[in-house]
Amino acid sequence: MSEGALNQATEAIRKADAMLIGAGAGFGVDSGLPDFRGDEGFWKAYPPMEKLGISFEEMANPRWFEDDPSLAWGFYGHRHQLYRNTIPHPGFAMIRRWAESMKQGAFVYTSNVDGHFQRMGFGQNRILECHGSLNYFQCLDRCGQEVWRQDNLDLSVDEGTLRASTPFPACPSCGSIARPNILMFGDWGWDSFRTEEQRGHFMDWVQNTRNCRTVTVEIGAGVTIPSVRNICEQLADETKGTLIRINPRDPQGTANTISIPLGGLEALRQINELMP
Ligand SMILES: NC(=O)c1ccc[n+]([C@@H]2O[C@H](COP(=O)([O-])OP(=O)(O)OC[C@H]3O[C@@H](n4cnc5c(N)ncnc54)[C@H](O)[C@@H]3O)[C@@H](O)[C@H]2O)c1
Ligand SMILES: [Zn+2]
Repeated sequence: MSEGALNQATEAIRKADAMLIGAGAGFGVDSGLPDFRGDEGFWKAYPPMEKLGISFEEMANPRWFEDDPSLAWGFYGHRHQLYRNTIPHPGFAMIRRWAESMKQGAFVYTSNVDGHFQRMGFGQNRILECHGSLNYFQCLDRCGQEVWRQDNLDLSVDEGTLRASTPFPACPSCGSIARPNILMFGDWGWDSFRTEEQRGHFMDWVQNTRNCRTVTVEIGAGVTIPSVRNICEQLADETKGTLIRINPRDPQGTANTISIPLGGLEALRQINELMP
C-alpha cells in the first residue's frame, strides 16, 4: 500500500459532500458470507456443487427452476436463509455515519443480493441493487404478478445434497413455481422493474450532486463481472472526484485511484480511526 493511502482516503472522505458507495461480494466477506471467486471459492462454500461438477455460472441459471427445481431451490433457499441469518459487520454503520455528515449523503450501488444495506439503515431510495435482491421473488411464468417481498422462507434444505423438499415457493397469483428476483446468467426472464426504479433514483442523485465534491468508495468489487468497478470508475471520472478502491486482492486502478489492499472492515476501521 502506498505511503499515506489511508490518510489520503480519510481526507477525501472528510472533504466530500456526497459519496458513492460501490459494494461487491467482497464487502459481505467480513460478515462471514462467502464470495464466489473462481470455482474454488464457490465449491468451498457449496461442496455438493463440487461433487456434481457444477460451477457458479452454471448453477446461477434460471433453467434449473424448470429442469430440477429441488436443486434450484436448494441453492437459492440456502442462500436466502444464510443472508437472513447473517449479521452485517460494523463497517456498514461506520460508512453510514460518514455519509450522514455529508450535505448530499450517500448512494449505494451494489451487486450484492443480500439486502444488507437496507437492513443497516441505508435509505430505500439511495440503493441500486444491479443484480436484484434475494429478498424478492417473482413468478417463473411471468403471469403478470408483480415482484413480491419474501422475508421468511419455510423451506427445508438438505445440507449434504443441497436439495430442497416440496412444497417450493409459488406465485401467489397463478400458483406456478417462484424464483428469486435476481439476475442470473442467460436470464431473459428476470423482472428488472425494481432495479430500473432504483436506477431512476440513482440518476436523480447523480444529477443533484453534479456540483458537489463527490468521493467514490468501492469495496470488495471483483474483476470477473466488473459492473460495480465500472460504475465507480465512470462516476469518479465524470465528477473528477476521488476513487478509493478497497480490495485485498484486486486493488489496482488508474493513476488517480487510491488503492487500499486490505479487507473491507479492516480498511474502514483504520479510516474511521483517522477521522476527526
Ligand atoms: N453477499 C451477496 O449478496 C453475494 C455473495 C456472493 C455472490 N453474490 C453474487 O454473485 C456475483 C459474483 O460474486 P463473486 O463473489 O464471484 O464476485 P467476485 O469474486 O468477482 O468478487 C469478490 C471480490 O471481493 C474481494 N474480497 C475478498 N475478501 C474481501 C474482503 N474481506 N473485503 C473486501 N473485499 C474482499 C476479492 O478480492 C474479489 O475482488 C455477485 O456479483 C453477486 O451478484 C452475492
Ligand atoms: Zn404467476
